[in-house]
Amino acid sequence: MSRIPLISGNWKMNLNHFEAIQLVQKLSYELRNHDYERVEVSVHPPFTNIRSIQTVIDADRMNFRLGAQNCHAEASGAFTGDVSPAMLQKLDVEFVIVGHSERRALSGETDELVAAKAKSVFAHSMVPIVCVGETLEHREGGEAEAIVETQVKGSLADLSKDQLSQVVIAYEPVWAIGTGQTASAEDAQAMCSHIRSVVAAIHGPAETELRIQYGGSVNVSNAAELMAMEDIDGALVGGASLEAASFAGIVSFQEV
Ligand code: PGA
Repeated sequence: MSRIPLISGNWKMNLNHFEAIQLVQKLSYELRNHDYERVEVSVHPPFTNIRSIQTVIDADRMNFRLGAQNCHAEASGAFTGDVSPAMLQKLDVEFVIVGHSERRALSGETDELVAAKAKSVFAHSMVPIVCVGETLEHREGGEAEAIVETQVKGSLADLSKDQLSQVVIAYEPVWAIGTGQTASAEDAQAMCSHIRSVVAAIHGPAETELRIQYGGSVNVSNAAELMAMEDIDGALVGGASLEAASFAGIVSFQEV
């Protein structure tokens, strides 16, 4: 089964809405129709930019999928400062990143909370990109596989069989995020293959449809090698997604 890669730009807390509009316009200018035939491309602006980007994508008929970086698990309620999946759905958001390691580390998100968010994202007709990944300590201690397995099982615990084949998992080793230090293509492949077998053990045959992204210092020079790996179906890109030329270079990677 051939899986269509998903390449996602995680803008994190960068760009105001004017800058964000400029970035998608430049990006759209850099990419060609055939690029979107090979891969799906999603952009994940901060919440304050989503409405602006939605309008531009719609007006200019751009091929980008709109994404968000997080959401609350509840559809509404007394949660000051939070944004609900129902609100994102209304803005034509298709993909929502949940459980990014920055949120796990800085906002104390647990696998249980990530599972509730992933379930709620599906309930609002969007697809969660569930992030997992080990720290350097875990890797050096030989615990990387076990840690990631626990995260995968815990974070997907509330999903149905059908949802397990639609969910996107992003494997992002924490030590590779924003450091310029990428996992080797072989190590990334080994972990993504492990993740696929963990999901298969819960779920059965549809694990072949599951898309697994690699994330952590992906750039124009390493994208092709990573994407050539059998179990890597795209990339979650932070820093290099903030510049149109570098993100376009990743999207239009040449197969090796
Ligand atoms: P990076 O971030 O590409 O800047 O390492 C990736 C991510 O955090 O999703």
